[in-house]
Amino acid sequence: MDKLKIKGGHQLFGKIYISGAKNAALPLICASLLTKDRVTLTNMPVLSDIRSMNALLEQLGTIIESRDEVVDGNPSKMYTFKTDKLSSLVTPYDYVRKMRASYYVLGPLLAREHYVELSLPGGCAIGARPMDIHLSSLEQMGASIEIKNGYVIAQAPQGLTGAHLIFNIASVGATCNILMAATLAKGTTIIENAAMEPEIGNLANMLNAMGAKISGIGTPILTIEGVNELHGVVHKVIPDRIEAGSYAVAAAITRGQIELMNAQAETLQTPIKILRAMGVRVTENPHSILVDAQGCHLEGKDIMTDYYPGFPTDLQAQFMTLMLTAEGASMITETIFENRFMHVPELMRMGANINVHGHASAIVRGVKKLYGAQVMATDLRASFALVLAGLIAEGETIVNRVYHLDRGYEKIEQKLRGVGADIVRLKDDEE
Ligand code: UD1
Repeated sequence: MDKLKIKGGHQLFGKIYISGAKNAALPLICASLLTKDRVTLTNMPVLSDIRSMNALLEQLGTIIESRDEVVDGNPSKMYTFKTDKLSSLVTPYDYVRKMRASYYVLGPLLAREHYVELSLPGGCAIGARPMDIHLSSLEQMGASIEIKNGYVIAQAPQGLTGAHLIFNIASVGATCNILMAATLAKGTTIIENAAMEPEIGNLANMLNAMGAKISGIGTPILTIEGVNELHGVVHKVIPDRIEAGSYAVAAAITRGQIELMNAQAETLQTPIKILRAMGVRVTENPHSILVDAQGCHLEGKDIMTDYYPGFPTDLQAQFMTLMLTAEGASMITETIFENRFMHVPELMRMGANINVHGHASAIVRGVKKLYGAQVMATDLRASFALVLAGLIAEGETIVNRVYHLDRGYEKIEQKLRGVGADIVRLKDDEE
């Protein structure tokens, strides 16, 4: 297992190109299953989660081709997906275990083939994460659902039919899954309290370009008129707002200045508001965001995670680390996942002053210094929070379990080295 070795104390300066969004790309890949035609995705990030999803589709019968490309100055990948015929309708445990988002094949396969078997994802490091909204919505659309030997067996021999759905939680995963399923259902589906994350807009726009009839994109009420078939498309993955937000914190925490190329400021309004309130200078340009914290004296601010456009849970850990370098106390409240403070004990080992209250809130107090240590995290974003701590810690920090970071941060050490960080990847037995 690789590790990252970081020598702290360098201010970061320069440009970082933001990659295509992992959380947009994953449902887009699965949406390619809705047609026999060729689906081409551009600006795809190079990440292990994308490789895992591609491997799953190949197992289902998709032919995938890839080639390197440069999009908006950033080297990335273009993939084409073609699924003439499904050779399997089963998603085994091994895929779902590696990556929960494997459940995005549920909606498309049920819509196209009227049958799917999917290993149920269990809980994960950040919480229980059930799938009840996905499953009960499909039932309301006429599917019969059975749980057997850890698998969901979903079938709709006559095809799915439109339904009026009211989600009790604005779930990102359920919105994407039902959106895909409803495109080929008979009649109209309405989703009330749909999630509004930009990744859902990216998916809905691609589905419309394939011939779907979705309205209300970007609002909490989506209306989908079912069509008989969808056709091929060429579609661009939006830039990753969470990667951009993470590097914005890298600039702020080192009191440096980084221009986040291709980042979309409109998708990061709440984190930008917090950065500005703390005292960081943020300039929103049409195709970049400039984060400048040179000479800044930062002030702690309270944060509460929420559904989009609220503060993203996927930036909570990174901002908590930033608050350690601010004056005063900051209260961080996590409302989306029940177990998302796993980075706290590791930050404490580096000298942090954090008091966790129950599962949902933590008081973070600014400290004079953090000290390098051997640390590891149990999830992707928490791992980045430890990298951030390493960037400012005195001495050397080793972040273990880099495979978490490789799931969601493309070329992390190259991007950070490019702006002046002292960071190297070590193989298992190197020190
Ligand atoms: C997606 C993102 C993840 C992000 C999260 C919240 C992907 C691949 N992952 O995850 O990075 O942190 O959105 O922005 O895009 N819930 C239920 N029942 C359900 C579905 C969800 O109770 O059927 C609960 C979850 O346990 C959680 C909350 O709803 O507490 C939000 O989850 P959801 O929006 O579905 O997150 P994911 O789609 O899993």
